[in-house]
Amino acid sequence: MRVIICKNKEEIADKAYKIFKQQLNEKPNSVLGLATGSSPIGLYEKLIEGYENNEVDFSEVVTFNLDEYVGIAKEHPESYYSFMHKNLFDKVNIKESNIHMPSGDSEVDCIKYEEMLSNNLIDLQVLGIGRNGHIGFNEPGTSFESETHIVDLKASTIEDNARFFDNNIELVPKKAISMGIASIMKSKKIVLIAMGENKADAIAELIKGDVSEKCPATILQKHQDVTIIIDEKAAEKC
Ligand code: GLP
Repeated sequence: MRVIICKNKEEIADKAYKIFKQQLNEKPNSVLGLATGSSPIGLYEKLIEGYENNEVDFSEVVTFNLDEYVGIAKEHPESYYSFMHKNLFDKVNIKESNIHMPSGDSEVDCIKYEEMLSNNLIDLQVLGIGRNGHIGFNEPGTSFESETHIVDLKASTIEDNARFFDNNIELVPKKAISMGIASIMKSKKIVLIAMGENKADAIAELIKGDVSEKCPATILQKHQDVTIIIDEKAAEKC
């Protein structure tokens, strides 16, 4: 596990972009695993800039997103489908047919997504981290063996996400569909981005805690190619 501590979010985005640029230049038909949340936005801005400057090309890129809410339409402005289109897909030359987002609320929907993932091994996965150590929407207690599944979101996650729903907890979806921990661990390379002091506990646990399902991110200690890119505040408790 490599840990890169950066001064600010600009430097975080630069470091993450370098890794993505190299991946896309070496393998134009890369399969990218993508995440939502504020952490990867700087990276997505750099990828858009890189596309505009002809440094990266998305014409052959295939993407798989980590997760999606259950119970809101994909057209909803806060769906992860909308987030990804607004922050990346609409601004680069990716083919709509190469974009994969989990959707639905049944076992069959989960199996279908997992099958697509098995046929398209992720070359490079970007992750954020929840303040309780969740990755994707794999909340504490999720089995390390888990594949794509339906999740009941924890109260802390619902609270954290209320800011996107008029600060009204009632409006926040209570369930999500998420790639599992085993699905994430199959990625060839992983980059995890975190910033801010509210991530410091989760980052300390991820880097030096015991590997335990109590903190899902700790499983990354067992992956052979992980880069953690964080700011000084998120690194405070390491
Ligand atoms: C949500 C997403 C996660 C993300 C987390 C952190 O729960 N499902 O994939 O990592 O938020 O979000 P942020 O980067 O905004 O702190």
